[in-house]
Amino acid sequence: MNHSLSLTIAIDGPAASGKGTLARRLADYYHLPHLDTGLTYRAVGHALLIHGLPLDNVSAAETAARQVDLANLDREVLSAHEVADAASKVAVFPTVRKILVDKQRAFAAQPGGAVLDGRDIGTVVCPEADVKLYVTASPEVRAARRLRDIHSRGGKADLADILADIVRRDERDAGRADSPLRLAPDAHLLDTSEMSIEAAFQAARSAIEDVLAKRNKT
Ligand code: C5P
Repeated sequence: MNHSLSLTIAIDGPAASGKGTLARRLADYYHLPHLDTGLTYRAVGHALLIHGLPLDNVSAAETAARQVDLANLDREVLSAHEVADAASKVAVFPTVRKILVDKQRAFAAQPGGAVLDGRDIGTVVCPEADVKLYVTASPEVRAARRLRDIHSRGGKADLADILADIVRRDERDAGRADSPLRLAPDAHLLDTSEMSIEAAFQAARSAIEDVLAKRNKT
């Protein structure tokens, strides 16, 4: 691998598809900085929740979006289930998205490149990304994964509740007017329903290596 090259990797997909794990592994492997853009929407939802503000208060959401500091996103605090739901509600507002997308693009533009994951990275945030991956899995597989995750951290949850939450969030994310979740035409589709994270990583790596090999020829 040539470290002097710039490499931008865009990863999209629905909740609990495994895109975050894949993004972290690729960032680690290619020594790239990584941004989980979901955390930026979660930070806005969380700010409104802790101030007891309604989630349709657009101007409060815009203020919270302006205050988002990419260097200070607390995954632990932001991982709560109600924060995810709040995030998907504030994520429908175009003005909130614009403020966050500007910050995400600045992150993506750093020398050397970056790995970003979210819902609209390949379509809106980084349409010129060197490699686009779209990671998905059936809602049932994603719900079961999320439940295992919660159990492994000593928590409790109900599979049916998680599945309902995933389906609701998918509908909101794919159905909104601005930057809906969708597969970019030039993205590599990785369906992890029956694929291990290791196999997904190898498939992603092979797509990236192809891009790097083509570059070295030119
Ligand atoms: O990826 P994560 O589950 O943390 O995202 C939380 C919510 O933030 C999503 O359900 C979605 O509504 C929103 N989001 C978005 N665009 C992104 C990343 C996340 O709209 N690029």
